[in-house]
Amino acid sequence: MTYLEGSGKEFAGPPLLLEQLDADPLRQFLAWYQEAQRVETGDPTAVALATSSREGRVRSRMVLLKAIDERGFLFFTNYGSRKGRDLADNPQGAFSCFWPASMRQVCVRGAVEKTAVEESAAYFESRPVLSRLSAWASPQSEPIPPERSFLEDRLQQVQERFSSGHVPLPPHWGGYRLIPDEVEFWQGRSNRLHDRFHYVRVPGGGWKVERLAP
Ligand SMILES: Cc1cc2nc3c(=O)[nH]c(=O)nc-3n(C[C@H](O)[C@H](O)[C@H](O)COP(=O)(O)O)c2cc1C
Repeated sequence: MTYLEGSGKEFAGPPLLLEQLDADPLRQFLAWYQEAQRVETGDPTAVALATSSREGRVRSRMVLLKAIDERGFLFFTNYGSRKGRDLADNPQGAFSCFWPASMRQVCVRGAVEKTAVEESAAYFESRPVLSRLSAWASPQSEPIPPERSFLEDRLQQVQERFSSGHVPLPPHWGGYRLIPDEVEFWQGRSNRLHDRFHYVRVPGGGWKVERLAP
């Protein structure tokens, strides 16, 4: 057995109090995200997204959150990828993010829906042209030949195909919206006595908030 050594850093963050929290966890997330944007050195939009197959086999990977609206959290990907296939079979997901400088974690769980094609197209159009071409070129999550030239050749082919300039939204690519029914805000505190507040959506509207033991 090899014991792993972390930074050993104490999570000595400020208190998190129930009365500081917004009644809406999406607004609360946005407030924490805006603070993270100021103080984090890494990308504060990076989250570990978990999905599960029909049989209940779970997988996680990083994605970037690209938007939040009153319904949920948006991320974009290839609909034919492993996560896309999981979500077609079981439209439930969860993600966590960790903002180390703030000593904060947020964990979210809920149903996942595809965004409207217009929403996917609007975001796709905003991406740099090479990212748009890569979305056409890469059969995300499929096994491919070991040589990188396979991908470079595919990129060249799509560059030729769209040489007129306009790179449209690929039919296999777009957004998902995770519509939360549970959100937890975790603030690291000293001596491992962290502050945790857990929101659960109440049928009929609103949220119930409970403190959880660390
Ligand atoms: C920080 C980070 C952000 C990422 N963001 C995305 C993203 O927004 N969308 C995406 O499809 N893949 C993203 N990836 C790649 C995924 O982690 C993953 O490799 C890919 O989506 C295929 O996952 P799957 O085979 O489980 O579907 C990101 C990777 C990292 C490390």
